[in-house]
Amino acid sequence: MSDYYWDTRIEYLRNSRDLYYNDDYINFLVKMVWKIESPVHIIDFGCGYGYLGLKLLPLLPEGSTYTGVDLGDQLLDEARQLYAKLPYETEFIQGDIQEIVLERKYDIAICHAFLLHVPNPMTILQKMMDTVVETGKMITFEPHWISNMANFHLHGPTQSKTVQLGLLQKLYEQSAAQSGKDGNIGMKIPVYFSQLGLQNIECRVSDKVNFLHPNMEDSHKQKLYQSLLDSGYADAPTQDRESFIHNLIDRGATEQEAITQYENELLLSQEFHQESTITYAANMKITFGTVVRRL
Ligand SMILES: C[S@@+](CC[C@H](N)C(=O)[O-])C[C@H]1O[C@@H](n2cnc3c(N)ncnc32)[C@H](O)[C@@H]1O
Repeated sequence: MSDYYWDTRIEYLRNSRDLYYNDDYINFLVKMVWKIESPVHIIDFGCGYGYLGLKLLPLLPEGSTYTGVDLGDQLLDEARQLYAKLPYETEFIQGDIQEIVLERKYDIAICHAFLLHVPNPMTILQKMMDTVVETGKMITFEPHWISNMANFHLHGPTQSKTVQLGLLQKLYEQSAAQSGKDGNIGMKIPVYFSQLGLQNIECRVSDKVNFLHPNMEDSHKQKLYQSLLDSGYADAPTQDRESFIHNLIDRGATEQEAITQYENELLLSQEFHQESTITYAANMKITFGTVVRRL
């Protein structure tokens, strides 16, 4: 059993991905926005078990290929097993993206929920860009946590009783300043693309609004409930009240903010169950641009 964090999170990855996009929206992006009409060679940075490839390959012209790079051995084993049953040409490369040297031979470099986990996103974006041929594309799907949290609505309590946006904004900013890893990176990538000299930069938002409610069909209800549960939106506080509050104060919260946050998380965990009524949109930001090098 691997002790690499992401190798232990395969179930979470598998169960949470359905919350983000409707398949018709991905189809719309490929066909109407990116207009991919001839085969492309794609490289996916931080590919995990190959989620993006599974979504994109069926929509791409025949002859397209998918290369995934990740640190997780078990994630890549899972990917190899999944793709072995499919008719696509794929390659999975195990390695640390911080260190690995990759060839410049891909038409599109992509990533999904990856850049928020690196402390040096500009360096990694440059590295991604270095793998793309002239006039190829970069496409990133990354979160903007604060809009994600603003889009979680549990019917019943007023939103401020379950989600305290002001404090979350402060905590996200503080942790990004400390570690360089930024859960709000989605809204910044257009700026980074511009600084790297990409052209035709655009940014879109994921389309899906999930709706859990008592009247929905049982198997859909169970699946959606499990996805929301696994995503941790309604986890009970993991520490006792005192430690939780001290921890948040250490991270920059006022005492009152820390107490309210504790009460919010507790209430949300108590009110969240399979028969709850919830609307939730992940608000992933999809940024794309064309690689043009000034020689
Ligand atoms: C949130 S997961 C996303 C996985 C996949 N893109 C998806 O959306 O299902 C982040 C992924 O980035 C990978 N990762 C993070 N830092 C990495 C690094 N330095 N080198 C290679 N992979 C890395 C992790 O192993 C993990 O699979």
